[in-house]
Amino acid sequence: MSAVPHEPTRIERFSDVQTLAKADMAAVDALIRHRLASDVVLINQVAEHIIGGGGKRLRPMLHLLAAQAAGYGGRQHVQLAAVIEFIHTSTLLHDDVVDESDLRRGRQTANAVWGNAASVLVGDFLYSRSFQMMVELDSMRVMRILADTTNRIAEGEVLQLLNIGNPDTGEQAYLDVIERKTAVLFAAATRLGAVLADLPAEQEDALARYGLDLGYAFQIADDVLDYASDAGTLGKNIGDDLAEGKPTLPLILAIERSDPAQAAMLKRAIQAGGLDALDDVLAAIRATDALTASRDRAHAYARSARDALAALPAGDARDALAVLADYAVDRTR
Ligand code: IPE
Ligand code: IPE
Ligand code: MG
Ligand code: MG
Repeated sequence: MSAVPHEPTRIERFSDVQTLAKADMAAVDALIRHRLASDVVLINQVAEHIIGGGGKRLRPMLHLLAAQAAGYGGRQHVQLAAVIEFIHTSTLLHDDVVDESDLRRGRQTANAVWGNAASVLVGDFLYSRSFQMMVELDSMRVMRILADTTNRIAEGEVLQLLNIGNPDTGEQAYLDVIERKTAVLFAAATRLGAVLADLPAEQEDALARYGLDLGYAFQIADDVLDYASDAGTLGKNIGDDLAEGKPTLPLILAIERSDPAQAAMLKRAIQAGGLDALDDVLAAIRATDALTASRDRAHAYARSARDALAALPAGDARDALAVLADYAVDRTR
């Protein structure tokens, strides 16, 4: 047989990552559909509405790739990926009630269609379904990580509630919120890949660090998109954060970089909420380059996430994780 030169796989773009994860992601999606089922019709309707709306499925993808990068050869990663997406989805159902949002994944939110009560209760259904599924895995370690994570997410959402309308919220207070409400679930997704593969503590911690930093980057990017995108692309209404008086990084940096008069205008806008000041706020954000500065922070976290991957064996899955760190920031939706 003549020697055919071996083409090394190159995982360089998001589409390469999707191809690499395709088979496992299809299995996760099938499992999600299967485990949504309830004989209470309203649960099926609401759950199907939000799950069927799509979503990037980034957290389950990160878990699958982390497990692969860790050398895991079993099937439990499919179940855990579904558990993680269920937890994420339930936080979205609750979050849209709290944030009074009416568009998600390009569709009306569940609260806009069925009201707040149905959204909260179906969110609880998905949460508790995720607990049923994690118990099936029969691992105290896995349950502890996910119990701690969901508890931290709840703390993050409450902490954020306390900052609403508070114009003196600083960068550190903002980072404390996004670590809990967003980054810890990414960290759990990637740590659990290492846990399944029984990696040594040092490598497990590296994968968790990767997920945590990617999570920071992801939420900062989300907060930029809330000012910089449009509903058609994002599938969510932009300006929601300002309308709610939510002091996110673009506003915090714009205040830091403003003269006293402009800073006072921005602070009043946070205190008042609503969109009356939107044009002035956008002008101030532009004049201070606050979106660029926010993106720079996000890129720094993404770099730090990528650096953490050095502790893992080289391979396609590790390359894919590196690509996803950049995707978390450079995505448009
Ligand atoms: C939205 O998460 C909530 C945030 C943490 C910003 P995603 O942007 O991952 O939402 P979907 O699942 O793709 O819709
Ligand atoms: C999402 O934060 C936090 C969650 C954990 C659900 P956001 O409120 O910024 O998310 P979106 O923009 O509504 O998706
Ligand atoms: Mg929200
Ligand atoms: Mg947002």
